[in-house]
Amino acid sequence: MLKVCVMVSGGGTNLEAILQAVEDGRITNAAVTLVISNNPDAYALTRAASHGVPSECISPKAFPDREAFHEALYERLCQEKPDLIVLAGFLVAIPPRIIEAFEGRIINIHPSLIPSFCGVGYYGLRVHEAALARGVKITGATVHYVDGGMDTGPILLQKAVEVLPGDDARTLQRRVMEQAEWILLPQAINMIANP
Ligand code: GRF
Repeated sequence: MLKVCVMVSGGGTNLEAILQAVEDGRITNAAVTLVISNNPDAYALTRAASHGVPSECISPKAFPDREAFHEALYERLCQEKPDLIVLAGFLVAIPPRIIEAFEGRIINIHPSLIPSFCGVGYYGLRVHEAALARGVKITGATVHYVDGGMDTGPILLQKAVEVLPGDDARTLQRRVMEQAEWILLPQAINMIANP
């Protein structure tokens, strides 16, 4: 049984997709044992509670500096000992110490076809704004392993999504979530849980 820790910052629709997939059997041999948010107001925390999954907030505001915040994240993860850490809209750069301790056991979902529209500054709606500004006809989502860079780790899964005439960043974001992210992330976890 793969022990999974999901890290979130916001709405948690990807977390919801994971928890539903565990419940309806699209993910087997895995259990989400902990959800960690850096944001006390993240709706993802409510979603975790409604599925009966333990959740905790580790907020940078509770610590004197960034280093102390990073240390608290590291300590909590070492105590939890997850087999897999899933970054599902976690808007904190993972400190090197955590990447080293959990090497090859951290995955992230990014809402574009990497290497397009990724790296520093490409998060949230900005990714979709950039795709629309460039005029691409196809975008999508990528699940990749996390290494020391920003969106640079080995790619695990990708799924393409059409850009439609009249799209704005919000309609495109929604389509990428529905047609790619919410399918891809559960699939990736199931693949890792059933090698
Ligand atoms: C998603 O678009 C994901 O690809 C990105 O952050 C967003 C999180 O959305 N990394 P949600 O919190 O899962 O709804």
